[in-house]
Amino acid sequence: MCGIVGYIGTNDAIPFLIQGLSKLEYRGYDSSGVAFNADGKIEVIKKQGRLKVLEDILNSNPEKDIKLGIGHTRWATHGKPSDINAHPHISSSGKIALVHNGIIENYIDLKNQLIQKGTKFISETDTEVAVQLLDSLYNGDMFETIKKAVQMMQGSFAFGIVCADYPETLFAVKKDSPLILGIGENENYIASDIPAVLAKTRKICRLKEKQIAILTANNVNLFDFDGNPAEKAITTVSWSVYAAEKNNYEHFMMKEIIEQPNVISATISPRLKNGNIELDGINFTKEYLENLQKICVVACGSAYHVGCVAKYFIEKLTKKPVEVDLASEFRYRSPIIDKKPLVIIISQSGDTADTLAALREAKFLGARVLSIVNVVGSSIANESDDVLYTWAGPEIAVATTKAYSTQLSLIYLLALYIGKILHTVSDEEYSRFIDNVESLPQKISEILRKENQIQQIANKYYDFEKIFFIGRNIDYAVCMEGSLKLKEISYIHSEAYAAGELKHGTISLIDSETLVIAVATLDEIFDKTLSNIREVRSRGAKVLSITTEDKSEKISQVSDEIIYIPKSYSTTTPSLSVIPLQLLSYHIAKLRGCDIDKPRNLAKSVTVE
Ligand code: F6R
Repeated sequence: MCGIVGYIGTNDAIPFLIQGLSKLEYRGYDSSGVAFNADGKIEVIKKQGRLKVLEDILNSNPEKDIKLGIGHTRWATHGKPSDINAHPHISSSGKIALVHNGIIENYIDLKNQLIQKGTKFISETDTEVAVQLLDSLYNGDMFETIKKAVQMMQGSFAFGIVCADYPETLFAVKKDSPLILGIGENENYIASDIPAVLAKTRKICRLKEKQIAILTANNVNLFDFDGNPAEKAITTVSWSVYAAEKNNYEHFMMKEIIEQPNVISATISPRLKNGNIELDGINFTKEYLENLQKICVVACGSAYHVGCVAKYFIEKLTKKPVEVDLASEFRYRSPIIDKKPLVIIISQSGDTADTLAALREAKFLGARVLSIVNVVGSSIANESDDVLYTWAGPEIAVATTKAYSTQLSLIYLLALYIGKILHTVSDEEYSRFIDNVESLPQKISEILRKENQIQQIANKYYDFEKIFFIGRNIDYAVCMEGSLKLKEISYIHSEAYAAGELKHGTISLIDSETLVIAVATLDEIFDKTLSNIREVRSRGAKVLSITTEDKSEKISQVSDEIIYIPKSYSTTTPSLSVIPLQLLSYHIAKLRGCDIDKPRNLAKSVTVE
């Protein structure tokens, strides 16, 4: 949601703060700011707009000899983007400044209490309440003050805090929002995510729930919210700075689209041993699976769309009923978990607030939780019974591509693994599926080579304002992802529809100014989808079809444009059909002059409910 950085050490803090924030801009980019301790006085510089605005101010009047500072890049939740609402926020006394990621849910109550005591507020944010609360509790001992304040605040908060009386100490707090520590030589860092510190150190400590960190240049100490010392688990990040850079690509999104064959291989290869699937020590017994009444898949956004494919795939291969829920709905619909289902949580970041809340609800109700996560050691990974990591590497573009694809590939492996134990998949089918999954990277590379054709199609249709995606079964599930990709980065209103459903009302919207993108890859129902394409075509819509070459004769009769994808075992086609949709969205957004990696109103990691 927002990006936090902090520095304490023997070098200049400001260059690190700016460089670190530039790696976190994907988390929010409507304003940014820094606070630092200059000769025992806290100074704050913050500005609405992209980080560049702040950077220019700091460069025009460089601050020297700053050894302690915090920085923030914002995605507005409480209060519109403005200089005043930007972080860091400083207390009225000028003693304490703080950056925050998350939402303080009881901020109105706390604010009223503070106002009654005479505190004056200048911003509309919940964050200012946190800093004023700290100030009102401050008795000369910052650690004691933080301990008291965190007991009074409800909601989610990761904080970086500096206090004028502590020119050599950086404080950090984590509750329900991600925060990592970077461990350096004579310097230490805090950040919302690893890329911010990667140019400085690969030694990372991920704060656990409800922890307070006290950092000096040479020391890092952790405590729980009651003040008891806590263990530091320091890990070394294996991926390089290069993985989190744009390199020669114009946009992270394109780099990440192109990376898909490699990251899918990286995700599946270690799990395939001599023709068998081995899932990171996860051990489902036959008895457990036979007694399993249902499987629930819970996620948000694109990860939810993976869940929609998963429903078709897992049901087909395991014969177990699968329910798919949006995480934000799951929690509040009183889900029936009485027979202890397996709950599969899918999340790239592993810190999405709605998904984390759903996970906790599922565990509270007694479910076993298996999560599919990209970020190692994230909250969702930590709190799950079992974890399968997608080895997609850092995903920086706000619109997900490679995380979606690696999540899908793990769903295939998981379903096959369960199907084999339950004997709902024959040995022959199992081997055939595995061959198919292994061939996906090479087939995706083939589709990526069609970029020129896709670019030309984008040239023709980029100014359409109404786009529908239609398909049946798993093709429909892919349509949902295609539609989301298009709208989030190009701002074109588009909708995904089950092809057979359109005629029950929505077809009235179809006219000659509509582009219909039809995904029609499944042999069994191809003719049905073909009829639905005819229905929209006869109402004047332009049609772009995505299918396989063996269907060329029929599809060419009803399409204005066709993109062929390689043939695949039916249920794995989503991994292929999504690729042209990603490329098309990218090129349409580019032609419309959109900010592809940082679309308006969005942020990568949604750590508020
Ligand atoms: C869309 C997109 C979002 C995320 C969603 C869940 O391109 O990236 O819809 O899929 O916010 O995020 P994670 O997977 O981090 O839980």
